[in-house]
Amino acid sequence: MTPDLLELAVVIPTFNERANVPTLIAKLDQALAGRHWEAIFVDDDSPDGTAEAAREIGRLDSRVRVIQRIGRRGLSSACIEGMCATAAPIVAVIDGDLQHDETLLPAMLDLLRRDDLDVVIGSRFVDGGGTGDWDRDRVAKSALATRLSRRVLKADLSDPMSGFFMIRTDIARRLAPELSAIGFKILLDLLTASPIPLRFAELPYTFRIRSEGESKLDHVVAMEYLIALYDRMFGRFVPVRFAMFSAIGVLGVGIHMGVLTAMFVGLGVQFVLSEIVATLAALTFNFFLNNTLTYRDRRLKGWRQLADGWVSFAVICSVGAVANVGIAAFLYEMRDGAWAASALIGVLVGAVWNYALSSKFTWGR
Ligand code: GDD
Ligand code: MN
Repeated sequence: MTPDLLELAVVIPTFNERANVPTLIAKLDQALAGRHWEAIFVDDDSPDGTAEAAREIGRLDSRVRVIQRIGRRGLSSACIEGMCATAAPIVAVIDGDLQHDETLLPAMLDLLRRDDLDVVIGSRFVDGGGTGDWDRDRVAKSALATRLSRRVLKADLSDPMSGFFMIRTDIARRLAPELSAIGFKILLDLLTASPIPLRFAELPYTFRIRSEGESKLDHVVAMEYLIALYDRMFGRFVPVRFAMFSAIGVLGVGIHMGVLTAMFVGLGVQFVLSEIVATLAALTFNFFLNNTLTYRDRRLKGWRQLADGWVSFAVICSVGAVANVGIAAFLYEMRDGAWAASALIGVLVGAVWNYALSSKFTWGR
């Protein structure tokens, strides 16, 4: 007999998973027989009509609900909204592409209740679990991401990148305002956001092969992940943006030297002319790279914005260069012989100047 009270919500983030929807619901129905559950699809307005496919079933089966988000994207934020949208005391998150093993759900639920845990995680990396037939590249990348995340987490968890877990809903709701909601690492966010360590356990499962549709884990997701990890570890000391801006600056020096060598040494062009071209090349390179990476959220687009942005960036950096040389010269005067330290401080001041002003004027709003 199915219990009266709603026990469990299963949150399913989806983007273009239409073909998987009916199968997943049928599998949940089977796996959770005798339990009182609901499924919440959180769909980012998939062009393939995933939301409508789920609603079609929802009209016959009121356990199936749909949140259709318009103009939004993101796995983590979809999970958060789904978890906050249920009255059930316990909520599971599972991928919509059948790669997670839904037959584990009853065992997860029982364990969570029996041991009075906060979280139960489906793990690919404890005994009995596995990653199915991933290629070596994906295994290596996943292992790296997992190792990095463990350093942030400082908890003995084998699969912090798992997208398959169950949590007490009140805890998820309480932590929701603290979550970064970026990228794919919702579980890691939940575990690190909690002021008191969450009580968790892991159960093994084997990651299945995706048979319909395709993965959305791409380079952008991977980059967001690394940025978020950096932010957790060092963001307090050196802000992410400044670190990226500086790293790109270092690459710019490489471009400068490359162009200079090619022109001056290779083609025998006059030194001053080679220097001018090298400087402009590095400046342009830095401008575009900062525009696509450092300031991707405020990216300048179209000829007009790009031209204005480039000019303001060039002006700011020229002043920065003058400040750089001026300060280095001043320090060198003061402390005779400390040429390297003087130069480095000059570079640092120039970098901070360029960063602060371009952030305010070139990419400011
Ligand atoms: N709403 C929404 N919005 N859902 C999304 C989005 C999005 O922007 N991007 C992906 N999803 C959904 C997919 O439709 C799928 O149901 C689920 O999230 C997982 O996405 P996949 O694209 O299939 O991810 P994956 O299989 O490569 O990655 C899995 O393994 C990772 C660890 O190796 C996921 O379980 C990740 O959560 C996990 O970190
Ligand atoms: Mn998948």
